[in-house]
Amino acid sequence: MDLLALTLLAQAWPSYHGGPENIKYSTLTQITPANVAQLKVAWRFDSGDEFEGSEQQCNPIIVDGVMFATTPKLRVVALDAATGAQKWAFDPNKPGAKPFKRRNRGVMYWRGQVLFGFEHWIIRLDAKTGQEVGRLNLKEGLGRDPERLTVNATTPGVIYQDLLITGHLTSEDLPSSPGDIRAYDLKTGKIAWSFHTIPHPGEVGHDTWPADSWKLLGGANNWAGMALDVKRGIVYVPTGSAAFDFYGANRKGDNLFANTLLALDAKTGKRRWHFQFVKHDVWDRDLPTAPSLVTVRRNGKPVDAVAQITKSGHLFLFNRETGESLFPLAERDVPPSDVDGEVTAAKQVLPVKPEAFARQRLTADMVPDPALKEKLSKVRSNGQWIPPSLEGTVIFPGFDGGGEWGGASFDPETRLLYVNANEMPWVLRLVPRPKARGIALASEVYASQCAGCHRADRKGTPPEFPSLEKVTRPAAEVEKLISTGAGRMPGYAQLGEDAVKGLTAWLKGGEDALVRNAAIGGLKYSTDGYNKFLDANGYPGVAPPWGTLSAINLDTGDYAWKIPLGEFPELAAQGRKDTGTENYGGSIVTKSGLLFIAATNHDKKIRAFDKLSGKLLWEYTLPAAGNATPAMYQLNGKQYLVIGAGGGKSKAPTGGSYIAFALP
Ligand code: HEC
Repeated sequence: MDLLALTLLAQAWPSYHGGPENIKYSTLTQITPANVAQLKVAWRFDSGDEFEGSEQQCNPIIVDGVMFATTPKLRVVALDAATGAQKWAFDPNKPGAKPFKRRNRGVMYWRGQVLFGFEHWIIRLDAKTGQEVGRLNLKEGLGRDPERLTVNATTPGVIYQDLLITGHLTSEDLPSSPGDIRAYDLKTGKIAWSFHTIPHPGEVGHDTWPADSWKLLGGANNWAGMALDVKRGIVYVPTGSAAFDFYGANRKGDNLFANTLLALDAKTGKRRWHFQFVKHDVWDRDLPTAPSLVTVRRNGKPVDAVAQITKSGHLFLFNRETGESLFPLAERDVPPSDVDGEVTAAKQVLPVKPEAFARQRLTADMVPDPALKEKLSKVRSNGQWIPPSLEGTVIFPGFDGGGEWGGASFDPETRLLYVNANEMPWVLRLVPRPKARGIALASEVYASQCAGCHRADRKGTPPEFPSLEKVTRPAAEVEKLISTGAGRMPGYAQLGEDAVKGLTAWLKGGEDALVRNAAIGGLKYSTDGYNKFLDANGYPGVAPPWGTLSAINLDTGDYAWKIPLGEFPELAAQGRKDTGTENYGGSIVTKSGLLFIAATNHDKKIRAFDKLSGKLLWEYTLPAAGNATPAMYQLNGKQYLVIGAGGGKSKAPTGGSYIAFALP
């Protein structure tokens, strides 16, 4: 019997997104389209761990009647899944440490242990007691000085037999860390295999980079999770862009295996096949989510396939064994970059069918605000593949998708794939990195090394990139943070102690002094930050919908239905209920005919739709936005739906609770 069948029998939610196929499907049938409107809160657990800027993105797992989940401070809690009563909690933070914004999307379960990512660790807990029984250090075994690496584990990997297969988050600017995919033997804690996503000499793809890239560059990492075909022993691993994301003069070539879906032998890490979605990415088009392992029909016969959605709003479908595309693809010539030193690929590939699930080109007639229309006329906007430029290039759908980390859900009976998406334009602009070598003002070092994320005006783009206008932490703490990095911020020890001290003093309101700067200097361009194309009232500068939910038939590539997802409460009160909004977190689909999704940033709702028609059947307003994927399980004859309410996206209020629903 395969794991899917076991999963279904157990009526549990034993791994991230319900199972290694990553389809978020529940066979439970107690809650139906006829009675879903009667759903009531069964229990609520408040961790109390929310703080300004926090998020809680965890899709909880339920094993033997116990729910395991993480809180905004990344404590792990074990709750009685019938009552929400806490059995134990584990706190990985140093006692008294200030809350630090981190992300965690879920935990893993293996032979009585709960495993989860915290900083560069995979921490292993006894599932019964919550006591730590060991940890794996993801900084080790990457072939570089671990002290100099920034590595974070945010999304669960997959477990095949006794191998934990995992990726990790790296910095998106240089210096960065290698994105090797690793398998750890959980019995010994040792690395069983590594797959080099920046190939070493002699490995396939090595010639798609400058020679020493594998020693010096980074990224091309898997941060979005994976899917596992247990029967075939194949793991499907989506990767992100190479660092630096937006200017690749020092990484000439297609850059395999960045922006690639890798089909690897789960036992050995050997590559079976691969497909690269973006050659030489300069748009930050990371593959944002694990693919879904599906079975579709072609010529009346079942075909095992793997479906991958992208930030650009496209759906690709491949034969699971061969990697052959099951929908027609078209290769086209794309415009070259006119930025000094940059050489982008001459051709890129997109599917002809299905149609994109998000709009592709921002044009003046889609921009209602006259001031924004004017702004649009000064930047480049012509759909996908327009290279970053000094005057600005519209990225639409934006840096966060299109498709996002919540990923798609799939109904094996109807072969409908459900995709929620954002339709937010962003503007990408390259700016020169001033020479940052030798002696420079602290502000110059800042402009060359830090402004790409924290912006030239130090305002950042919270909550992703914090404002540095008022840095109040003690100097020693700030110096340490600048040297070693944190989360998506790389470490800057290579600037030298003098520069780190000078920067810290200046950021804390001190003088803009000359510092000796040992920077590797390097890249000529950075960006002026992550800028959304918003109108004066803060709404997306494009005509709605701003967020959507689509049902796509994978047999035909046709849309069964598509609706706006989410509301701005103040606009809805004026009758504008169909705008859709940005949304983060995935859907789940049930055999009984329902599609559940929260995800919407502003209205904080969780909703149930008729899976065949897209008709809204139930909604409930959560205490904070449910920017996470729900889970579904049955216990003592009762079916439960549970969702984490963590908020915090787009400056929305934060929360730290889990809410379970059931019929009365
Ligand atoms: C690639 C993007 C990026 C770059 C480049 C970057 N940072 Fe950061 N920085 C971040 C992120 C993300 C955080 C939040 C880290 C976290 O808590 O996970 C952060 C946090 C910080 C903080 C803590 C802010 C607070 O209030 O807690 C300081 C100080 C800081 N950065 C300084 C710098 C300096 C100085 C540089 C340049 C030498 C720099 N950063 C370059 C992304 C970046």
